Amino acid sequence: MKKLILIIISLIILILAIVFFLNPDGIYQLSDKTAKFIPQQTTPEGVISLKAKDCGVCHSEIYQEWQTSLHSKAFTDPFFTAYLKKDKGDPTCLVCHTPLLNQSPVILSSESVDYPDTWGALKSIANPDFDPELQQEGVTCAACHLKDGIIYGPYKKKSLNSPHPVAYDEKFLKKSLCQQCHEVPSKDFSLMNEGVCSTGMESNSGLWAAKGFVCQDCHMPPVTRPLMDGYPAREGRKHLWPGGYSNHQLQKVFTFKAEKNEDTITITITNSGAGHKAPTGDPDRFIVLDFFWIDKNGQQSSLESIKFKRQIVWQPVMFVLSDNRLAPGESTQLSITAPSVSGHLYVNGSYHVMTDSSLKRLKDKFELTNEWPIHRPFINKQKIDIR
Ligand code: HEC
Ligand code: HEC
Ligand code: HEC
Ligand code: HEC
Ligand code: HEC
Repeated sequence: MKKLILIIISLIILILAIVFFLNPDGIYQLSDKTAKFIPQQTTPEGVISLKAKDCGVCHSEIYQEWQTSLHSKAFTDPFFTAYLKKDKGDPTCLVCHTPLLNQSPVILSSESVDYPDTWGALKSIANPDFDPELQQEGVTCAACHLKDGIIYGPYKKKSLNSPHPVAYDEKFLKKSLCQQCHEVPSKDFSLMNEGVCSTGMESNSGLWAAKGFVCQDCHMPPVTRPLMDGYPAREGRKHLWPGGYSNHQLQKVFTFKAEKNEDTITITITNSGAGHKAPTGDPDRFIVLDFFWIDKNGQQSSLESIKFKRQIVWQPVMFVLSDNRLAPGESTQLSITAPSVSGHLYVNGSYHVMTDSSLKRLKDKFELTNEWPIHRPFINKQKIDIR
C-alpha cells in the first residue's frame, strides 16, 4: 500500500515537472491565436490625427462617452500601471492595453530574447514612429475603427457623407470585435480549458447566448442621434462600456427568491443579468452577498454570506482550484434557519477589485499611489420577499 502511494506521488511529481518544463512561462503567448499589436497606421484623409480627441472634434458625444470608459484609461489605470511594474514592463501586456503599434515605444518580434521571462520570449527594438500622446489614450478609437487609411463602422447600406473614407465591417455587430481582447486563450499545453480571462468563452452558452445577445447589447446602449452636429439621426450605440466599476451595471446581475418551509428559509440567487460569469475577466475580483434579518423590533442580525470567486493556482502549473461564480442564467441556493422573531430578509452586495493584501503588496512593492476604491458596495439593503 505504502509503495503504491509512493509510486503515485512520484508520478504526480513527474507529470508536474513535464508540464512545467513544457509550460514555463505561464499564461500568455504571442501567437496566431492571440492578439498582436495592430500594425503601424497612418492618418486617413479628412481627419486631423489618429487621436481620440481629434475624432472628438466632430464625434463629440461619442468622444465624451469614451472618455468616461475604462477603455480610455487602459494605459493610465493605476492598477494596470502597478501590475505592469510587477511584470517588469512586459510588452505583451500592451498588446491589449495600447493596441496600436503607434502606441508602443518598442516593436516586438518573436526571434529571441530581450524578455526571456515573458510569456513567449521576445526581442524588442525601438519604434521610430512611437506617439507618446496616443499611448496615453489606451484603447483609443482607431484601435477598433481604423485599418489602412479607412475608417470602418457598422453601417451597411447607408450613404454616409463623411470627410474621411468609410467602409462597413460586420465585426461591429458581433462579439468577435470584443473577444480579441476580452479572451486570453489557454496555451496549447495547459491544465486550464478556459484562459485566465475567459469572458468571451463564458458568454458562448446560457440564457443570453440563446437569445442571440452580443457584448454590445449590454455594454453599448442603443441610441438614435446624428454622428455629428448637423447630420441626420442614425441608429447607433453609446460608447460607455460599463462594467465592474459601475453600480448601475452591477445592479443588473442578481435576482433573489426566498421560500420558507417550516423552520428553513431557502434563498435562490440567480445570475440573470450578466452575459458571462460574474465577476468575469481579471481573476483578482470577487463579489460578496451578505444576507441579514431585521426583526419587528428593528434588531438587525446577520444570517449568511456568499463570496463568488475563482481561485487560480499560478505556480508551478496553472490550474483552477475552485470557481463558484454563476454562469449566465445559473442559480445557487442557501439554506438558513428562520430567525425566531418575525421580520424581513435583506441583502447587501459588494464588489471587490482585489483583496487588501494584494493592494498592500502593490503599494509596498510596485509604487501604487493613486488607487481607486477597491471595495465597492452596489446593493444596499435590498428587501427580499419570502414566499
Ligand atoms: C471633420 C469631422 C470628422 C472627423 C475629424 C472624424 N469624423 Fe468620423 N464621420 C464624420 C461624418 C460627417 C460622418 C458621417 C456622418 C453621416 O453621414 O451621418 C462620419 C462617420 C464615421 C463613422 C461611421 C462609419 C461607417 O461606415 O459606419 C465612424 C465609425 C467614424 N466616423 C469614426 C471616426 C473616427 C474613429 C475618427 C478619428 C480617427 C473620425 N471619425 C474623425 C466626421 C468626422
Ligand atoms: C472597443 C471598440 C471601440 C472603440 C474604442 C470605439 N468604438 Fe466606435 N464603435 C464601436 C462599435 C462596436 C460600434 C457599432 C455600434 C452599433 O452597432 O451601432 C461603433 C460605432 C461607432 C460610430 C457609428 C455610430 C454608432 O454609434 O454606431 C462612430 C461614429 C464611432 N463608433 C466613433 C468612435 C469614436 C470617435 C471613438 C473614440 C472616441 C470610438 N468610436 C471608439 C466600437 C468602438
Ligand atoms: C483592443 C483591445 C480591446 C477591445 C477590442 C475591447 N476591449 Fe474592452 N477593455 C480592454 C481593456 C484593456 C480594458 C481594461 C482597461 C483597464 O485597464 O482598466 C477593457 C475594459 C472593458 C470594460 C470595463 C471592465 C471593467 O472592469 O469595468 C468593458 C465592459 C469592456 N471593456 C467591454 C468591451 C466590449 C463590449 C468590447 C467590444 C465592443 C470591447 N470591450 C472591446 C480592451 C479591449
Ligand atoms: C446580458 C448582458 C451582458 C452581455 C451579453 C455581456 N455582458 Fe459584460 N457585463 C454585464 C453585467 C450586468 C456586468 C456587471 C457584472 C460584472 O461586473 O460581472 C458585466 C461586466 C462586464 C465586465 C467587467 C468585469 C467584471 O466582472 O467586473 C467586462 C469586462 C464585460 N462585462 C465584458 C463583456 C464582453 C466582452 C461581453 C461579450 C463577450 C459581454 N460582457 C457580454 C452584462 C452583459
Ligand atoms: C488579451 C488582452 C490582454 C492582455 C494581453 C493583458 N490584458 Fe489586462 N486587461 C484586459 C482586459 C480586457 C481587461 C478588462 C477587465 C477584465 O477583463 O477584467 C484587463 C484588465 C486589467 C487590469 C484590471 C484593471 C482594473 O482597473 O481593475 C489589470 C491590472 C491588468 N489588466 C493588467 C495587465 C497586465 C499587467 C498585463 C500583462 C502581464 C495584461 N493586463 C495583459 C486585456 C488584456
